[in-house]
Amino acid sequence: MRILVCGGTGYIGSHTCVILAGRGHDLVVADNFSNSSPKVLERLQAITGAPVAFRRVDLRDRLETRELLVGGGFDAVVHFAALKAVGESCERPLDYFDNNISGTLHLLQAMQEAGVRRLVFSSSATVYGDPDSVPVTEDAPLRVTNPYGRTKLVMEQLIGDLCTADPGFQAGVLRYFNPVGAHASGLIGEDPSGIPNNLMPYICQTAVGRRAKLSVFGGDWPTIDGTGVRDYIHVVDLARAHADALGALERTGQGFTVNLGTGQGVSVLQLLHAFERASGRAVPYEIVARRAGDVAEVYADPSLAHRLLGWRAELDVDAMCRDAWRWQSMNPDGYAGTD
Ligand SMILES: NC(=O)c1ccc[n+]([C@@H]2O[C@H](COP(=O)([O-])OP(=O)(O)OC[C@H]3O[C@@H](n4cnc5c(N)ncnc54)[C@H](O)[C@@H]3O)[C@@H](O)[C@H]2O)c1
Repeated sequence: MRILVCGGTGYIGSHTCVILAGRGHDLVVADNFSNSSPKVLERLQAITGAPVAFRRVDLRDRLETRELLVGGGFDAVVHFAALKAVGESCERPLDYFDNNISGTLHLLQAMQEAGVRRLVFSSSATVYGDPDSVPVTEDAPLRVTNPYGRTKLVMEQLIGDLCTADPGFQAGVLRYFNPVGAHASGLIGEDPSGIPNNLMPYICQTAVGRRAKLSVFGGDWPTIDGTGVRDYIHVVDLARAHADALGALERTGQGFTVNLGTGQGVSVLQLLHAFERASGRAVPYEIVARRAGDVAEVYADPSLAHRLLGWRAELDVDAMCRDAWRWQSMNPDGYAGTD
């Protein structure tokens, strides 16, 4: 297939490009580099052995987006392009609505105009908010707790309405749990700007000396060791699910919404200690008060993804930590440090 990958120089998008290129698809990456680096394109070339076609496009620009799609000859779009920081979305909700919702609307309009009717979309477990029970299944109530989550829910709804209006439009909506890890080459990985919002990059930056210590929010949750439990999934497993989702859409002509996780809950301290074993480094940490809005335990029931896509996560927590550490130690300052 000829595939447009929007947000393809970002963390999950870049790993997905490697898998899609490896399966022989013809890719065009589009990104505005608002949260990524042009260096990713060089790294992708080093991994895949071929240059990656790239267009610098901001999905907030309706005309640019239209021009990208119309005449592009695409069979499918994989859409990662979004802002994703929960805290920032509370401070700047309008920027999140504009970037994520307007950007997606422009993309859908351009797809319609160009006659491209196959989409794989990055959603998030954040649409479940604080779930009533775990493991979380796809029919759990949707109740978002912050503006970022609201954009994900609205984008899912926009896509759902389009599928209803045009039964020929096929969408695979993928609800990611907690992506971590990096490509085994150490050439691409997660490179947050500023202070990391997520646990694994914080652990990595602490281990490499960029942060003094890790703050663990809450040691009194009703969990195995008192720290919060999440479903960490290796980014390479996650990337593979996008290729499998495209295959399922092509094979069945039916859209779907699936959870992507391992189905295993892992606590903050379990992840931290696995990382210390994988890296051979001690990671200083301190248990501090719970953060408002956090929840004790969230992990997926990923069985629907297995039934519909034939996909399941294969890489364990040790692999996640080993690969995250390889990326961080080879690129202590991320892409910025590689000039
Ligand atoms: N990483 C996670 O923990 C996580 C979890 C659940 C869902 N998601 C979702 O997965 C997707 C990818 O996440 P990621 O971690 O790779 O994020 P990322 O920030 O690394 O990648 C997103 C990419 O989209 C680009 N982008 C953003 N707005 C754009 C616009 N208007 N026009 C063009 N390009 C634009 C950014 O420059 C970046 O390269 C996002 O939609 C995110 O909400 C991520």
